Amino acid sequence: MGQTEFNRKKKGRKKRLLADIGARIAKSLCFLGMAAVLASSAYTDIKKLSQPAGDTVSVQPETGTGKAEPEEMSEPMSVSGQSEVNTGKKESAEMSEPADTSGQLEADAGTLDAAEMTEGNIEEKRVALTFDDGPHRIYTAKLLDGLLERSVKATFFVIGENIPGNEELIARMYQEGHLIGNHTYDHVKISDMSAEDACEQVQKTSDLIRAITGEDTEFVRPPFGAWNKELEAPFTMIPVLWDVDPLDWTTKNTALVEERILSEVEDGDIILLHDCYESSVDAALAVVDELQAQGYEFVRVDRLILE
Ligand code: NI
Repeated sequence: MGQTEFNRKKKGRKKRLLADIGARIAKSLCFLGMAAVLASSAYTDIKKLSQPAGDTVSVQPETGTGKAEPEEMSEPMSVSGQSEVNTGKKESAEMSEPADTSGQLEADAGTLDAAEMTEGNIEEKRVALTFDDGPHRIYTAKLLDGLLERSVKATFFVIGENIPGNEELIARMYQEGHLIGNHTYDHVKISDMSAEDACEQVQKTSDLIRAITGEDTEFVRPPFGAWNKELEAPFTMIPVLWDVDPLDWTTKNTALVEERILSEVEDGDIILLHDCYESSVDAALAVVDELQAQGYEFVRVDRLILE
């Protein structure tokens, strides 16, 4: 067991969604237009859930592999260990066999030529920055500037009600190559809602995004991480949770947020931040600088999950 694999298990990392193209389309109740949507079955569990002000911690439900309904059994998903969600990380773990040599890498750097380093470990270390609860007129703009300067692509799970008046920020995200995901319209706990209401929350936001970008959103981050199996049918979107949560909304201390991330992050991780706080934006950019220096590549969550 490679070190990376070991760490992955040790951390009891949550599982992320994986998808089986098409299988869920037939079950779609409210996103019939999304023909290319990826379906998924998996389960998710979160080691800690937390959200910004006013949010309550909730227990992450399992959208479970083992308890699949008959119709879902045809999906290549019966193997919990296999369909389990975590492609990005899984691949990384597998690929990085002589792996997790972050320390070793540095030590060996002098003896490796550039080609070896490129083909070897460096390109395998990937993480995804995700930002919830925006767009924010000031801080999201600042973040986009910083990401552009660093040639970093990120993922934004935007709240629908924050879009009106900030359309140019959504346009910038799109034009500058970031992935735009859906974080509901009113930042609501959709697992507690009827499927109809939950769909409306998401659809309203998707409509606003599409009006600006011309594209549908395929990824949703449920507020509070509150997702359950019942939502798999009405939602053809792929839910995205996270691996690293620095609880950035609990502090304005940029260095603390940065330290929390750096002490925990591993290859293949999805990092949760909020672009509605300046301290979080500053921390994110500091983390980018540090991890880029360590050889990490920052990718959108679609690349991390689906590739
Ligand atoms: Ni949120």
